[in-house]
Parts: sequence; C-alpha cells; structure tokens
Amino acid sequence: MPETFRIQTLNAISPLGLNRLDREVFDLGTEFTDPRAILLRSADLHSYEVPSSLYAVARAGAGTNNIPVDKLAALGIPVFNTPGANANAVKELVIAGMLLAARNLYHAADYTRDLVAGQELTGKDLDKAVEAGKKQFAGFELPGRTLGVIGLGAIGVLVANAAQAMGMKVLGYDPAITIERAWQLSPSVEQVTSVEELFASSDFITLHVPLVEGTKGLVNAQRIASMAEGSVVLNFARGGVVDEEAVLAALDSGHLHAYVNDFPSEAGAVHPRVIALPHLGASTGEAEDNCAVMAVDQLSDFLLHGN
Ligand code: MLT
Repeated sequence: MPETFRIQTLNAISPLGLNRLDREVFDLGTEFTDPRAILLRSADLHSYEVPSSLYAVARAGAGTNNIPVDKLAALGIPVFNTPGANANAVKELVIAGMLLAARNLYHAADYTRDLVAGQELTGKDLDKAVEAGKKQFAGFELPGRTLGVIGLGAIGVLVANAAQAMGMKVLGYDPAITIERAWQLSPSVEQVTSVEELFASSDFITLHVPLVEGTKGLVNAQRIASMAEGSVVLNFARGGVVDEEAVLAALDSGHLHAYVNDFPSEAGAVHPRVIALPHLGASTGEAEDNCAVMAVDQLSDFLLHGN
C-alpha cells in the first residue's frame, strides 16, 4: 500500500491544478492535523505552527513574503513558488494602469456616472457637463514617454517588450543582477547603472521586484523628486517597496500625476490621485490555472520523487 500524502490547501486553488493529483496517492483537504504539504495562494503562514509532518510548501504565485521561508529552510522544508506563471496577467494590468493614468479614465468614468446618477443631469445640461469633462480629463499619449522598469524577471521583461511595442522608450534596472545579466535577459531594453538614473530619466516607473530588505522603501521622497513633473508610479510588486507617505505628498503637491497601487492602504485607497486595486495583478482565470498547475506539479514531483 503506497503512502498517502495529505495536502492542506489554505486558499482556493484552480481545479485545473488540483485535478492533476492522483487521488489514490494524494488526499486533499482544508484542515489536517498532520499535513505532508501546504498549498496556498495569499494566506499568511507567518503565525502558523509548523507541524512535524510537513515536508513542503507550495505557493500558487510568485511572491513568498506571506511564507516564513527562512524558518522553513532551517527545518529543511522547501518552499516552491511559480515565477512567470502569472506574468502575462500582471503585464496586462501594468499597461492598463499606464493608460488609466495617462488618460484620466478612472476619474473620468466616476465623473460621467455622477452626472447622471448623482446630479441627474439631462438634455442640454448633460451635454454641457460632458463638454466640460472632455476638457477636464484631457490626457497624454504613451509613445515617446519613458518607462523605467525596476526588476527584469519574467514580468519586468514582458512589460518592457509591451511598452516598446506601444512606442515607449524603456529603461531597465534590476537591483539583484549584474548589468551584463540584465542585457542578456532583455537585450532590447536600455540598461541604466543606478536606480537614481532610472528615476531621473523616467515618466513612468513600474516595480517588479520582491519585497526584501534591500527593496523596502525603494520608491522614496528623494527619488520621486528627481522624476519629471507629472510622472506616474505603478506598484504591482508589494506595498512595502514604496514609501507611501512620500508618494501621497508628491501627489498632493501635483509633482506626481498618479499612483497606481495594487496594495492599497487606508490613506492610499481614498486619495483622489491614487488608482487603488485590490491585489488584482494575478487575478485572471488563465493566471490562476497556470500558477496552480506549476505549483501542483512541483509539489507532487517533490513528494513522489524528492525533486
Ligand atoms: C504573486 O506574488 O504572484 C501574486 O501575489 C499572486 C496572487 O495574486 O495570489
């Protein structure tokens, strides 16, 4: 009789991934006292009591900051993640975020809804208000603008290529790799040698780095001040990579045009120049399927074959 591996799932995981597990060998559930493995998405494992039965953890996602990786490593328990599996979903949202900000779409849609639902304008009054909105929300176009991409992993490279296809100039910088490696990963992207140079030369900054000690507060007051007036910051990385107080101050002063943030805080979510999203970067059916398949395959390979 072969061993049955009990896998505890802490979040909803796409059935496309789960169905790859042979149920004669793998027992799936949301609550076990002695799981062999944990499969999760965004649940926080930091306060989790590690059971002695645990062999492995797999995250259907790229970031691992919700998992005590060091503590688990010290116990010899590997953590698997799925870098690249949701990269296209994030890339599409970054491009959407740039367009939302450049064309003021987020506020323009609120404005138009309010004319009818709030102010109940009709006929000539509505026409006049529409005409006023046309002026108030006039935007700018992307070709010729410079996008600074921080982090040149799977997502950063896809974003860089898509922005170039839209006519933007793209600069790249990755704090974790050498400039030679960065050229190899994204040969069509001009690399800069310092993060300072990237901020000073970009109209848009997009973040694709993990939240680690070296990236905490990477977007700070000084770097924002070096950006051109009317610039935009996009954060689809993690909240802590940005000094939010500094960003909000720059939005208040008008130095920054917008902040597109997938990790809203209380202050940030209600700011009129913040486009705040509920951690939507990887939330597409396709990305959820890809992440689940990759996470499940790594976990089952490890449990069955030890690799
Ligand atoms: C990631 O790190 O890839 C995302 O946080 C995934 C998710 O939204 O669950």
